[in-house]
Amino acid sequence: MSSASMGLEGVVVAETELSDVDGERGQLIIRGYEVEDLVGQVTFEDACALLWSGRLPTASEREGWRARIAAGRNEAFGHLGSIGSALALPDGMDALRAAIGHLSATGDVLRDTYLLIGATAVFAAAWARRQSNEAPIEPDTSMSHAADYLHMLGGEPVGSDRIEGLDAYLCCVVDHGLNASTLAARVVASTGSDLVSAVVAGVGALKGPLHGGAPGPVLDMLDAIGSPERTRTWLAGQIAAGQRIMGMGHRVYRVRDPRAAALERAAARLPASGTAGARLSLAKSVEHEAEALLAERHPDRKLRANVEFYTAVLLEAIGIPRPLFSPTFAVSRVAGWCAHYEEQRRRGRLMRPLSNYIGPRPQAKAASM
Ligand code: COA
Repeated sequence: MSSASMGLEGVVVAETELSDVDGERGQLIIRGYEVEDLVGQVTFEDACALLWSGRLPTASEREGWRARIAAGRNEAFGHLGSIGSALALPDGMDALRAAIGHLSATGDVLRDTYLLIGATAVFAAAWARRQSNEAPIEPDTSMSHAADYLHMLGGEPVGSDRIEGLDAYLCCVVDHGLNASTLAARVVASTGSDLVSAVVAGVGALKGPLHGGAPGPVLDMLDAIGSPERTRTWLAGQIAAGQRIMGMGHRVYRVRDPRAAALERAAARLPASGTAGARLSLAKSVEHEAEALLAERHPDRKLRANVEFYTAVLLEAIGIPRPLFSPTFAVSRVAGWCAHYEEQRRRGRLMRPLSNYIGPRPQAKAASM
């Protein structure tokens, strides 16, 4: 009987052209570009084009991507009347899963991709507005995806600093190797199932606090700590009680997650008059102390800040409500799931691993029988 790799560490199950995570060097490459060279430099639509076509779009191609993704939002808005009570669910990820689950794939993967990218943003924004008893806002197809997401949330004119901050976030988390939700989507793709089903699986996996559910709890932690002087005592108490420090540690990175640095820089670019200034300095001190305390507790395991740590600070500064943090992660990552779906269908095989059976065996048949 072979030994089990319970967390699939070191197991390679796919070949991909999409992205590469080097955990020792702290490097994330998305189709040939280091993530730091994309974040703050390109829009979400550019990142989608890069994932799909393998290169950044020219100016005229950029308009086409923008228009097709905007058309996806428009089409998704038309589905709001036929998703039952999905958006009444109190958890945003449950609502997203249920709402997307009402869609049907056409089988044209690129067309379905535009709809799913549009639907994730439209449904997430509509869910957030419903939480405060407000009607959904129709997409404005003249806007970029990031601008329209903020517009569909608040309905008011949105400043360029917030749009740029959100674009930075969406580009940063669009794809990340074979993370748990992407694996879930690829497993579904490997069975020959449809793209909507793969995205629903991705949303389900992303919801977990060990994956995309961490940024809300990171902010709860910063609230509970309150001021830099309380940081060490608070963190030491949590660690002594066996609690995990949210936003710290990663399955693959043994150094600081490069996305943490990119998002920290994006948060620093937002006006310090907003929440970013005070939050950012508290977050830096919490990161510093957490790293030191975790190094004492786990000297053999390098536990450094991951993407979720500064996601919390950035999204709050942009004005995204806390319960919408994980759905906003999905607004970006859906593009990665769709690209991986296409690649898995094109190059992959049915994923069907084994398990070690540790249950009872049938009794040996009695000789008299
Ligand atoms: N705080 C405190 N201890 C942590 C920790 C954290 N954030 N992350 C890992 N550890 C500890 C574990 O308790 C474990 O200790 P033990 O050996 O004494 O039981 C040890 O480090 C190894 O942890 P393990 O669960 O094997 O690591 P992993 O590779 O499975 O975990 C994460 C990766 C991301 C799930 C984990 O670091 C974590 O839970 N982080 C907090 C949640 C989070 O930020 N998620 C977002 C990820 S992008």
